[in-house]
Amino acid sequence: MSAKRTAQAAAAADARRAPEALSKGEPDIEKLRVFSGLSEKEHTPFYAGRESLIRGVLQSTETAADRTGAGEFSQGATWLIQGAPGAGKTAFLREVGRDPRSRGQAPWEGRLPAVAEIPLQDLGDEARVATRIAEALLRGASKEFRRTVQTAISGGGRFLFGTGFEASLSVGGGRQVVTAPPSATLDTLRNLAPECWKRPLVVVADEIQDVGIEALNVLRQLHLGEHGLPIVPVYAGLASAEDALDDIEGTGRGLTRIVPERVVMIGRLGPEEAEQAVWRLLDECGVRGREGSDLPEALAAATEGWPQHLHNGMRILARALAESGGNLALVDRGEVLEAEMQTRDGRHGKRKTRPMRNSKVFVARLMRAAKNEEMDRPEILERMERLSEAGRRRDERLPDGMDAEEFLTGHLLRKGALQEEEDGKLRCPIPCLSMHLVEAGGERGKADVLPERDA
Ligand SMILES: Nc1ncnc2c1ncn2[C@@H]1O[C@H](COP(=O)(O)OP(=O)(O)OP(=O)(O)O)[C@@H](O)[C@H]1O
Ligand SMILES: [Mg+2]
Repeated sequence: MSAKRTAQAAAAADARRAPEALSKGEPDIEKLRVFSGLSEKEHTPFYAGRESLIRGVLQSTETAADRTGAGEFSQGATWLIQGAPGAGKTAFLREVGRDPRSRGQAPWEGRLPAVAEIPLQDLGDEARVATRIAEALLRGASKEFRRTVQTAISGGGRFLFGTGFEASLSVGGGRQVVTAPPSATLDTLRNLAPECWKRPLVVVADEIQDVGIEALNVLRQLHLGEHGLPIVPVYAGLASAEDALDDIEGTGRGLTRIVPERVVMIGRLGPEEAEQAVWRLLDECGVRGREGSDLPEALAAATEGWPQHLHNGMRILARALAESGGNLALVDRGEVLEAEMQTRDGRHGKRKTRPMRNSKVFVARLMRAAKNEEMDRPEILERMERLSEAGRRRDERLPDGMDAEEFLTGHLLRKGALQEEEDGKLRCPIPCLSMHLVEAGGERGKADVLPERDA
């Protein structure tokens, strides 16, 4: 790297880093080890990017709180974060209620919301949802309030949680566990002590593309805000999630009037955002010899900012750093990048379902066509049928006993090989997966098997 670029990189790094995030003194080998030992799905301690989206959600919680204060309720409050597997949906849900300072960002001027995470299977049970919400509110309440509650429960039993929300509380694993009676509804949450509602609340649910019709009642209440509480629902799911919410399980019933600006497709991080995640790792682990390094840039470029690849690449880097005593100068950068590439390839391999593997030439031909021609759903379904008809061998056709619709929805879309984007075209959302699938089809995968169509 030239001296000029080194100086620029150093200046950019200074501007980027919040002083409190910097580690002082010795490299933190333990921290490097712990991070490198995380699984590929565990939440990263070095989250970066998507800050404006996070703040957009926080802003809507402020608005919800203000409206509630004014006696209004907000319709269509639901946020929907969509993306292919590994785009960082679950991670986003984890970060949304966190203090931005933990990411080295400027503080949030408003009230940080409490966050209630509702497992998908609980959404069909209103009392359970109320329980989860009450628990989250209690966690978010002041220490004094929690102490009062603690004293009142001493050993368990029923407790009037404020003025009317009766729940039983116990202490489990160092925290207060709330159990609302089966009759609890979202409306009854209004009776909680005002102390609990000093902050707004975000309700999060993941994998919402798999939502069942039994959840409709709770989803609607949360969406329409008729409970009159400062609650903002934030759901995450695959790119099919909006359709799934609009028409749950094909019943023709679902959520209406979702505000389009609140349906957000997430994917790769920008180069600077991806680099920033790597810088956080180096800075916060006090890595030596990091000043002016272009490794963050190289790793961000190699992974094309795809969160899952980046996370895996950073874990590989952390392991190499731990082994070299936290000194970047001793790390073989070529080895790190090579290992990252191998991991990425292995991951692409795992992403394929058996039918995708059995029809690998068919998939390769389709991916090539999807890349070059930008097709919408009906077009791609038609192309699948024609390709399959033209296929001679088994791996050149649709999987046995499966029609185009089923293979597209249940396999290609589900596994992130394709994704329906805002303009209606189906594209591969994961950088380099498309290339991998084409390569896997070998020479036959590259053959043009369809006759030119008459105009
Ligand atoms: N902005 C980010 N900065 C750093 N790491 C991230 C970021 N977003 C996601 N990650 C990390 O990348 C990995 C994959 O993200 P995550 O599990 O959230 O993806 P997902 O979209 O929920 O995938 P799936 O559909 O398979 O559940 C996680 O370890 C996560 O912590
Ligand atoms: Mg996830």
